[in-house]
Amino acid sequence: MIIGSTREGRVGDRIGRWFVSRAERRDGIVLRVLDLVEYDLPARYPKTPTAEVTEFAAAVGLAEAFVVVTPEYNRSFPASLKQAIDYAYDEWRAKPVGFVSYGHRSDGICAVEQLRPVFTELHAVTMRDGVRLDLMHDRLDEDDHAVVAMLDQLTWWGLALREARAARPYVS
Ligand SMILES: Cc1cc2nc3c(=O)[nH]c(=O)nc-3n(C[C@H](O)[C@H](O)[C@H](O)COP(=O)(O)O)c2cc1C
Repeated sequence: MIIGSTREGRVGDRIGRWFVSRAERRDGIVLRVLDLVEYDLPARYPKTPTAEVTEFAAAVGLAEAFVVVTPEYNRSFPASLKQAIDYAYDEWRAKPVGFVSYGHRSDGICAVEQLRPVFTELHAVTMRDGVRLDLMHDRLDEDDHAVVAMLDQLTWWGLALREARAARPYVS
């Protein structure tokens, strides 16, 4: 799970913890949290990857599926998230991505719809159904159905793509 907001005073970490508490109820998922505030990723893309860039890309490479927790900023997703996504490449390939999105008066759907082509470019597969929260109205304890639906799809794709990657090299 990647927490996409690094904003001071963010709610993204709280939403991330809530999602972890729900995901841990399921068998068969080992969840690791990649919180972008814990990675000092360079604002200027370096010629040579820094240790933090290498560490982040390696963590992405180890995962078999992703949950991206994203707020909506000006009808899109935050720059911190794009910066992190761009620091890995092959590590995203042929893996599924589900979204937990949120906003104020929106449920983050604009952020999600802009993330889809980014992940398509990286040969990742995005889940149709996500967890969408309008911070103005939603209560986290009411969204269990959406969590289950998204994790069902993510698990299905995660298993299918794990087998496919093992069976034959991905084409690109
Ligand atoms: C720069 C900025 C732009 C925002 N734009 C939107 C927006 O377009 N739609 C929306 O629903 N909420 C918007 N918001 C509200 C955020 O979704 C809300 O503040 C949320 O808590 C941000 O996530 P974070 O606290 O994890 O950083 C915006 C917030 C910021 C800081």
